[in-house]
Amino acid sequence: MIYCSPAKLNLFFRVLKKREDGYHEIASLYQAIGLCDTLTVKLASEDKLFCDNPAIPCDHSNLVLKASELFRRKTGLSIYVHFHLQKCIPIQAGLGGGSSNAATALWALNQLAGKPATEVELLHWSAEIGSDVPFFFSSGSAYCTGRGEILEEVPALSPLAVYIAKPKGGLSTPEVYKNTHVPDLAKRDPLEALSLWLNNQPVCFNDLESAAFKLMPELTVFKNQLIERGWENPAMTGSGTAFFAFKTADKSALQTHFLWRQEGKWYSQ
Ligand code: C5P
Repeated sequence: MIYCSPAKLNLFFRVLKKREDGYHEIASLYQAIGLCDTLTVKLASEDKLFCDNPAIPCDHSNLVLKASELFRRKTGLSIYVHFHLQKCIPIQAGLGGGSSNAATALWALNQLAGKPATEVELLHWSAEIGSDVPFFFSSGSAYCTGRGEILEEVPALSPLAVYIAKPKGGLSTPEVYKNTHVPDLAKRDPLEALSLWLNNQPVCFNDLESAAFKLMPELTVFKNQLIERGWENPAMTGSGTAFFAFKTADKSALQTHFLWRQEGKWYSQ
C-alpha cells in the first residue's frame, strides 16, 4: 500500500512560555500542504526502513520505526512492516516531514492490522512520538496548543495556493527553542490571529524567527532576498529554515496548496 505523507506549515506561531518539563507552551495554526513524501508499506517478518535520501537515518532513531514500535506496544499485536520512504519534503525545514512520516506509518499500520484503533486513539498515542505528530490526525487545519499536541479543529482555511523556499542549511528544533527568550517576544494574541484567519484575513508571524536568525545569520539575508525577489511578507515555518508566502512575483518559487483529508481517509494529492 502506498500513502502520501504531507508537509505542514505553521501559519502563525506563538511561544507563550517555557515549561518546567523543558518544553515550551505554544499556540499555532497548523496547515497540511500538498508537498508530500511517499510511504510504501508491506507486511514482513521484521521492521525495516528504506529511504531514497541517504541523509535520513534508517535505524530505530527514525520516527517511522518508533511509530511501528508504538503501534505494537499500544495494540499488543505482532505486526511488522517493510517501509519504503521517498523523500520530497526538505529535512530540518520546519515542514514536519519526520512527524508526518510517523503519523502516516501509524495510519498505515492500523489499516494493515484491520483498524484495531480509532483515529482519536492514533492521535493520542502519536503525541508520545513527538509534539507535531498528532496534528496530522486532524482534518488538515488545526489550532494547536500545549506543546503542540492539543488540537482544535478549524474549518478549511484559505488562501489555497502557497509558495515555499528553503536555504541550504537546516536548524535543530531544540537549539532554536533554547535560544528563544520568551520575555522579549511581541505579545500578539494568538486567538485574535486565529479569528483573523477565520475571517479570511491571513496573518503570518513566527516567534521562533529571532532565535533562528541568531543561530543562522544567513537566514536574515535569505529572507531579505525573498522580499527583493517579490515575496510578500514571507514567514518562517516551525523552527525553520523554510519560509512561505501567499504572493510572489518570483517565477522560480515552489508552489503548492493547502491539503485536507476526510474522516476515515488519509491525505491524497
Ligand atoms: O516533541 P519533539 O520531540 O518534537 O520536541 C523536540 C524538542 O524540541 C524538545 O525536546 C524540546 O527541546 C523542543 N520543544 C519545545 N517546545 C515544544 C516542542 C518542542 O521546547 N512545544
